[in-house]
Amino acid sequence: MGRFEIKELTVSDWESYKKVRLASLKDSPDSFSSTYEREQAFSEADWKARLRPQPGVNISFPLVAESHGNIVGLASGVIWEEDSTVAHVYQMWVLPESRGKGIATALLKSITAWAEVSGCESMKLVVTATNEPAASLYRSFGFNPSGRLEPLREGSVLETQPMVKKLGNFDFGHNSIELEQ
Ligand SMILES: CC(C)(COP(=O)(O)OP(=O)(O)OC[C@H]1O[C@@H](n2cnc3c(N)ncnc32)[C@H](O)[C@@H]1OP(=O)(O)O)[C@@H](O)C(=O)NCCC(=O)NCCS
Repeated sequence: MGRFEIKELTVSDWESYKKVRLASLKDSPDSFSSTYEREQAFSEADWKARLRPQPGVNISFPLVAESHGNIVGLASGVIWEEDSTVAHVYQMWVLPESRGKGIATALLKSITAWAEVSGCESMKLVVTATNEPAASLYRSFGFNPSGRLEPLREGSVLETQPMVKKLGNFDFGHNSIELEQ
């Protein structure tokens, strides 16, 4: 495949984003809680909303990996306003023929850098418990299982495992320097 680069998507990229996201949902239905059927019904406004900040709701960092002008991977970081200490990783997908070349790792590195610059203390994601390639990717990247298994979606027999990765050297304890009076 050769070289690839990581690019941030903007609203004007909504049609190529729609194409790759729908391809990912079709290719890997057991990896995502959303479905192809749900998202193929999205309007232009829905797709664009995923690519721009939603004031009072969230900010997002949607990324693709490109090789020779073709999109070969997708992932998005999202910080929800209700807890701006956490960056969530969503929509991770690499084109089947481009896997095993470090593309997902590069996408995760970019989201991590963005999360750190944004002042987040941790990153969170959920992975289907039986999805060993993805779980192994996240473990190798420093994510640890955290919390109980949950159904992938209503009615599904598949379960997802939440995972968390701490960022930076945040000290949640007391200030260790005590000044003498
Ligand atoms: C999971 C996925 C994103 C990995 O993408 P990728 O670009 O192939 O991953 P990388 O090349 O960056 O691999 C990094 C690490 O992930 C792990 N990994 C990736 N593919 C693996 C596989 N098939 N089996 C076991 N471990 C695997 C390894 O630890 C690997 O490190 P290594 O190459 O040093 O062994 C890709 O397989 C995919 O798109 N799967 C379908 C969609 C999906 O499951 N998304 C995750 C949703 S939570």
